[in-house]
This record gives sequence, C-alpha cells and structure tokens, in this order.
Amino acid sequence: MDRDFGKRVQRAVDAVGQTGAMAPRLALVTGTGLAPLLDRIEVSARLAYRDIPDFPQSSAPGHKGEFVFGHLCGQPVVAQNGRFHLYEGWSPADIVLPVYVMRALGAQTYVVTNAAGGLNPDFPVGAPVLIGDQMNFTGVSPLIGPNDDALGLRFPDMSRAYDPDLRAQALGVAPGLKTGIYAGLKGPEFETSAERRHLRASGADLVGMSTVQEVIAANHAGLKVLGFSVVTNSAAGGPDQQPDTIEEVLEVAAKGADEIRRIVLAMLEKGVL
Ligand code: HPA
Repeated sequence: MDRDFGKRVQRAVDAVGQTGAMAPRLALVTGTGLAPLLDRIEVSARLAYRDIPDFPQSSAPGHKGEFVFGHLCGQPVVAQNGRFHLYEGWSPADIVLPVYVMRALGAQTYVVTNAAGGLNPDFPVGAPVLIGDQMNFTGVSPLIGPNDDALGLRFPDMSRAYDPDLRAQALGVAPGLKTGIYAGLKGPEFETSAERRHLRASGADLVGMSTVQEVIAANHAGLKVLGFSVVTNSAAGGPDQQPDTIEEVLEVAAKGADEIRRIVLAMLEKGVL
C-alpha cells in the first residue's frame, strides 16, 4: 500500500459520516451471486461507491457498487455490496480499501462470502462450505510497500486467518457444514484441469478469484474473519467434468445464499457473532 492509502480510507470514512449511518459492529461482504444475503438487513443508509472520492467501481457480474448500513438481528452492520477483483485490473490496495474503511467505521468482525469451484470431490455443488484457511496464489499481497503502522503491523500473523472460535460457532449452528481450504487465484479464466490437479495436490478444497487479498487485509487490520464459499461448480476433474460458465456460477450461488444467511442469522440470534 502506498503512503496515501490512509488518506483514501479517511476520505471514504468522511463520506460515510455524511450519510448519518450508525457505527457498524459487523462487516459483511457478498461475493458473486450472493447479494440475496442482504435481504434481511433493516436498511438505514446506503452509499454508492461513485459518491465516494477516489473509490473503485465494481464491474464484475453479480456485483453492485454500494455500502448498505442497517441492522441484522438488532446488530448494527455494514454490507459491502459489490467487491473488486484482480482480474478487473484493480490493484491489491483498491481491493482492500473497503476492509480498512469498514474497520475504521467500527467493525470488529468481517464475514466474507464467495463463489468457488469445488476441488474436493466430497463437496456437493450448491452447498456452502466453511472456509478453514486460505492459500494466496495470486502472487501479490495488499501489504507490499510501506506499512502504515496506524492500520496494522508490518508482519501480521496469519496462523489464525479465519477465526477458530467463529468457525466453531458456525459449526455449532450448522453441524453438517464441511470445512475447506480456499485457494485464491487472479483469474479471470477458469483454471485448466492440470492447474486444478496441482491445487488439489497442494491441499486446496476450493478455488476462486477473490477473498485472499481482503482476508490478508482484515487480519492486518485486526478484524476477526468468518468465511463461507458456495461451491458453484465442480472443479474436481474426471470424465464428467463440465465446461465452466459464469452463468452457472451465478445461478448456483443464488441458491447457496439461503443456507449461508440461515447460518449467519442463527449465529447473530445466539449472540456468537
Ligand atoms: N474457479 C475459479 N473461480 C471460481 C470458480 C472456479 O471453478 N467457480 C466460481 N468461482
């Protein structure tokens, strides 16, 4: 991140301040096709990215471009409805800017969702999977460059990137949920079969084109992270492997959103999120 990054964060925080939005406790990020997760928010304010100075604009399919403020089960939340990806040409700093903005507004916990290919043949298409850990195969980090000590440590710990207590609580409300390791790549092309075999041999269960930059930043910023993937397509290879299409990804993600919403709401109702 460059030396002006803290100023970009502050300009966005100031823009949010003008909406009169309440300080959120929880930040929620909806991935590809997962915007229906936001249906239950009692909305108090919205802020379009285009009304924030020096803020990126989302162009990815299934992504809007706004922050939504309100309450979920009585908890003040902010949702990032629309995110940024390396494949769109955004820099790692652009991608993680919203993470630091939501942290500066007061968020303590970061709930991230995404659509992913299932490398693990035991993961059924359409099912949500709890993200247990991640592998950053993008070749970049949002933390490269000068560190802003006001935002986080130069060398942040990543050994509990996805908070173990939150993961245990998620399994408490959804005992059948599978846990998987998410490999993040740049995209935008889907992986070749050989690449997927390589990822699987490396220990990955899920593959996608988002999330890893944001989760590095969230750990840097001191946010606790809870993550869910919806397996939108099988990436397990074999003779039945179907061609990958974004249309299928969007359609299946929308179905998986219901179960993630149920888990998040159940955790909020129990007071464990
Ligand atoms: N690969 C990468 N990203 C994805 C996939 C996939 O198979 N499915 C959904 N996002």
